[in-house]
Amino acid sequence: MRKIIINGNKKLNGIVNISGSKNESLAVMCGALLSDDKVILRNVPNIKDVSIMKDLIDEIGYKVKSSDKIIINPPSNKKLEINEQASEIRNSILLLGPLTAKYGRVIIPLPGGCSIGNRPINFHIEGLKKLGAKIKIINGLIHSEAEKLVGAKIRLDFPSVGATCNLMMAASLAKGETKIFNSAKEPEVQNLAKFLNQMGAEIKGIGTDTLIIQGKKELSGTEYSIKPDRIETITYMILGSFPMNKINIRNTVKEDLSEVIETLKRMGVFINCKNNEIMVEGRTNQLKSTAIIAKPHPGFPTDALTLITPLLSYAKGISKITDKVFPERFSYIKELNKMGANTQQLEYNSVKIMGSHQLFGAKVSCHDLRGGMALVLAGLFAKGETIIEDVHYINRGYENYIEKLQSLGADIKQETY
Ligand code: UD1
Repeated sequence: MRKIIINGNKKLNGIVNISGSKNESLAVMCGALLSDDKVILRNVPNIKDVSIMKDLIDEIGYKVKSSDKIIINPPSNKKLEINEQASEIRNSILLLGPLTAKYGRVIIPLPGGCSIGNRPINFHIEGLKKLGAKIKIINGLIHSEAEKLVGAKIRLDFPSVGATCNLMMAASLAKGETKIFNSAKEPEVQNLAKFLNQMGAEIKGIGTDTLIIQGKKELSGTEYSIKPDRIETITYMILGSFPMNKINIRNTVKEDLSEVIETLKRMGVFINCKNNEIMVEGRTNQLKSTAIIAKPHPGFPTDALTLITPLLSYAKGISKITDKVFPERFSYIKELNKMGANTQQLEYNSVKIMGSHQLFGAKVSCHDLRGGMALVLAGLFAKGETIIEDVHYINRGYENYIEKLQSLGADIKQETY
């Protein structure tokens, strides 16, 4: 088991380079399985979730090489029974669509991932059934079979990121046209669609509510570079927003961050964007409280709502956060309260935060990736020593974060216990 020890309340200042997107990498690695040829991926972050995905793909029979880039070669022999490691990550569910479409069968354990409330996979299953797959869940294993997937009209009850990715990948090798209504528009979904199009898929409506996919007989190999991680960018933007901090975030994109930039500016944070750099400065010690509602893209991201909570604890006045994507995603709040945050659960999906509080070091534990990073942000601002246990959740999704934070002047280390 690993824990983080932070000696907080240091002025943080410097440059941070953003890594490739975790969620995009995981989706694109699954998309690569549709190809009949070699796929080369650049800028994939070196994190636990990616190494689990590499192992899973390797186990199927694909030949995966990784150095500064990941090379995925199609298999000569295939093993279409995915092992139990798949249940360690959420995005292993994204193997279901591509493998069913390409090989006509797969058995895969139900996915795991962060405990951020109820995470069903009914949209994935129902959508694939509409495309002609026969799917049963027996003893925690998803059994999927299809002689040939055939295009269909699918309406998602909620614009699910994962379900849109899965169905888009499957539909790319289905016979005929598929329309996905109420599809997700998150940048990672858009980038997966562009990657598939680069492999010869024909996906239209990218970035809109309706994706139209003309299925192809086969897809070719390609070379693709993963875009910068927008949630990592937001993490360092929030860190830069605490008083006296000044962080120059490099190798990122500002286009997908307008809701977050506007919110931070509204609170009184100084932000300057230039080309692929964002400079964030928490000059004032009079940040203002605010109300934030997390919604599907282009709304305020649910992951960012978790990350901004320690800053709202510091901002003067009463803030309110509401999550309309994962309504029960608040298990980190009781840990923040141990550090001196003053919060009150309102409805099931919203929390009131009474601000103007200096946080204090405490012993806390992680329950999920972004909630864990919220505790790191709180610990860096808090006076005294913070010990965060169960940090394997954070290690799954942030590349070199201890080194990046140390380079900004943070007194932070990770130890085994
Ligand atoms: C992905 C991201 C996660 C992000 C989330 C929303 C990965 C690995 N994770 O998660 O970081 O917070 O998008 O931007 O890429 N739902 C159903 N049935 C389904 C699928 C989803 O009811 O079959 C519900 C979920 O419970 C949730 C909502 O839809 O309330 C959104 O989930 P979804 O967009 O699918 O999130 P993930 O793809 O799991």
